[in-house]
Amino acid sequence: MSDARVNEPRPDPATGPNEAELAEAGLRLDVDGAIATITLNRPERRNAMTFATWRGLARIGESLPDGVRVVVLRGAGPSFSAGIDLGMFSGGAGPEDAGAGGGFPDGADEAASDRFIAGLQAGYTWLRRPEIVSIAAVHGHAIGGGFQLALACDIRVIADDTKFCMKEPALGLVPDLTGTKPLVEIVGVNRALELCLTARTVLADEAARLGLAELVVPRDALDKTVAEIVTALLAVNPGAAVATKRLLLEAPHNTLDEQCAAERREQIGRMRDLFGAESA
Ligand code: ACO
Repeated sequence: MSDARVNEPRPDPATGPNEAELAEAGLRLDVDGAIATITLNRPERRNAMTFATWRGLARIGESLPDGVRVVVLRGAGPSFSAGIDLGMFSGGAGPEDAGAGGGFPDGADEAASDRFIAGLQAGYTWLRRPEIVSIAAVHGHAIGGGFQLALACDIRVIADDTKFCMKEPALGLVPDLTGTKPLVEIVGVNRALELCLTARTVLADEAARLGLAELVVPRDALDKTVAEIVTALLAVNPGAAVATKRLLLEAPHNTLDEQCAAERREQIGRMRDLFGAESA
């Protein structure tokens, strides 16, 4: 099976997706000053995701207004997300994704398949950018691609009814939406292996114990708690926030010497910004 769409020109990233395109992809975007809220918005399908959803997320990332400092991801209805739309395996997921395999390119063309999956992963990778802090506000089920979306965020605030599950191996797939790295970094290889290869459900309490959530709150307190965290994040100096996130992201891969050097570099930049060049 080949897919001509793989080679089609992509829309201009600067323009950004319009409301109708996002609705088609099961997404809603609300930008209010420095805060962007992305709602997974197919509650009747438990916010199941299609290729259009992942491409829509990528386009939101590409066209995010410069002033946005916090991105909140949430799910409409009873669940955060039931993961990949299972209709894609049988051709019932929607116009763009119809067909067995949902338009996935011929596996024999490895380069095309690689580009195709990279395009979907782009929907998740931008959430790590130093310029923003991403928050997953999770409730109900967060399965497969939904769990991985939560893992792509910097902070996970979860309701006490949250159920995480890495379902992909049970369906014959691997988790390929950028989730394996944060999962292993958070819980370690052995626990990650156990969670993925049993595809078992992790409830909110265990998720917090494993470090998969920064905060667990009652379901009816989720929005309020997220709003409070957003307020706290926005109260911090914007330049310091970006520099600190950059620094923290480097830390796991650096030696102590490298990290000390990175701290000096970032601090010199901060001092220049705050007090002018002569202070650095
Ligand atoms: N894809 C397509 N449709 C879905 C999906 C999905 N992943 N999940 C739920 N739906 C649909 C159901 O078919 C149902 O449709 P219907 O009303 O036409 O019958 C509707 O959403 C509501 O689903 P229910 O099962 O009735 O809702 P409930 O709250 O009882 O259960 C749950 C929710 C646990 C999420 C369940 O729907 C489920 O197990 N879904 C499949 C999850 C899954 O295997 N996802 C793949 C993960 S792997 C990956 O993401 C790569």
